Amino acid sequence: MIPGLALLVLVVLVGCDEAPVDAPRDVGLDAHLDAPELARALPPFLPEGGGPVAIGPREERVSSAACGACHAREHAAWTRSAHARSHLDPLYQRELAIRPSRACERCHAPLAEEVSSRTEGAWADEGVGCASCHVRDGVVVHTRASGQAPHETRIDARVGEVEGCRSCHQFHFPAPERPSLHATFDPNDWLQDTVSEWSASAEGARGLTCIGCHLAEDEGRHDHALPGLRDRAMRARALDVEAEVHVERRVDVVTLTLRSRAGHAVPTGDLYRVLEVRAWREGEPASARSEQLGRVYERRGAHRLEVEDDRVMPSEPRVVTLRLPRLDRTDRPVSWTIRVWRLDPAVVRRAQLEDAVHEFAHGRLVPSRRPSEQ
Ligand code: HEC
Ligand code: HEC
Ligand code: HEC
Ligand code: HEC
Ligand code: HEC
Repeated sequence: MIPGLALLVLVVLVGCDEAPVDAPRDVGLDAHLDAPELARALPPFLPEGGGPVAIGPREERVSSAACGACHAREHAAWTRSAHARSHLDPLYQRELAIRPSRACERCHAPLAEEVSSRTEGAWADEGVGCASCHVRDGVVVHTRASGQAPHETRIDARVGEVEGCRSCHQFHFPAPERPSLHATFDPNDWLQDTVSEWSASAEGARGLTCIGCHLAEDEGRHDHALPGLRDRAMRARALDVEAEVHVERRVDVVTLTLRSRAGHAVPTGDLYRVLEVRAWREGEPASARSEQLGRVYERRGAHRLEVEDDRVMPSEPRVVTLRLPRLDRTDRPVSWTIRVWRLDPAVVRRAQLEDAVHEFAHGRLVPSRRPSEQ
């Protein structure tokens, strides 16, 4: 450790005399409540809709790189995470350019000192940096204090619970900033609903939290790379798939039953995510059929309202049936794939955003004939 830096951090992080209004000191120490109950009893860790985060005055701010000087492991992992890219992310910047809004930056650039519809600068580029989750009013906050840190640590149960994620992962459509001639999303609707979905899941019911899956613990260290949709191993464990195909006259009928094991809907999060189920008879590309599952909006008066949501919900299986025409008389194996498109497939194709498509599962089946067909 660099002694000069340690001193700097001490000066920088210590020295907050007043307890902030929304975070009493040592809020994790109430003996009567367990950590999840305590975290829920406290005021929101951040307001719904995200920052700006009250990490402290300008001269006391500490960047993720500065934390990384001592926490090299967490920093290296975080650098690979979607949180580290949340502001620079090309898909986000693309959408922001189409619909500039201050509301977006509160979550995608929560550390920016001044939030505008086109926030710029190093603090914005940090995205969801260390301080978004670990610094309030110039002090490091955490679930526990090891006593080994050269900085003050204030105990706060919310950091280790769903409450630490809720403000940015469960929120309504922002109210329009200016009058619009076009239909706008209804500010009473959820834009992202991940925490409610989680509450309705078997994983949530047995107390497995967002952190348990996305910041998994190994020997007391949590994985700050935040594996999610972009991570192959996470995608592989997201769905249980039962596949079956049988012949009915001149079609192969493929039935795929999907169950979420992700602790929330698949896909969750952003409203433009689409799950595509596709099947085809091998060697017969023209037989391919697909179905897209996602959230569908239509104009109703002044608002665009959700009229359909056929994502794979955590509580119920989703059955998809595809009927593939038999273009010749040969019995051929059937192949299927399940993929998530991060934006509407038409947009992805038009803008050639190939890396916005991720495979979840694939398989191959040999059609079986029902007794009546033989
Ligand atoms: C000068 C070195 C140094 C810097 C800079 C530093 N830390 Fe630490 N920190 C430590 C050490 C040493 C520990 C105790 C051992 C451990 O957990 O790594 C610690 C512990 C922690 C803990 C666990 C709680 C505790 O008290 O043990 C958290 C959370 C934490 N640091 C976050 C941060 C964040 C966020 C930043 C930047 C704002 C930061 N640290 C900057 C050295 C540093
Ligand atoms: C300050 C707001 C904020 C907080 C707090 C926050 N997130 Fe996020 N999170 C985001 C944003 C913004 C993105 C989108 C990044 C992108 O894809 O550009 C995101 C993305 C993610 C992803 C997607 C990763 C992927 O590649 O698919 C996961 C998983 C995630 N967050 C989990 C969590 C968990 C777990 C917590 C609580 C410990 C948390 N987040 C707290 C704002 C936040
Ligand atoms: C049982 C483990 C598990 C739990 C609990 C869990 N997740 Fe996930 N999550 C996954 C898996 C697996 C994926 C990858 C599949 C996917 O993207 O749907 C994922 C994907 C995501 C994504 C990527 C977005 C997308 O389009 O699918 C976000 C954001 C996310 N989770 C946030 C959360 C938050 C917030 C919580 C807590 C409320 C949470 N997760 C709880 C396993 C979990
Ligand atoms: C999205 C929120 C989030 C961000 C961003 C984040 N952390 Fe963490 N961090 C957590 C959570 C959650 C834990 C585990 C809490 C618990 O103990 O239950 C944790 C744990 C830690 C610990 C204690 C050791 C361990 O792994 O349990 C340190 C040190 C730490 N973080 C440092 C950092 C640093 C440095 C950064 C930036 C490079 C950072 N964190 C970014 C949420 C976050
Ligand atoms: C309350 C927090 C919050 C606000 C406000 C917010 N977002 Fe997000 N955004 C997130 C989270 C969390 C994710 C990650 C969810 C997921 O992976 O599906 C995300 C994901 C995205 C993605 C997908 C990024 C990718 O690479 O796949 C885009 C694009 C996006 N947001 C654009 C916007 C725009 C434009 C606005 C303003 C109109 C906005 N967001 C407002 C939290 C927020």
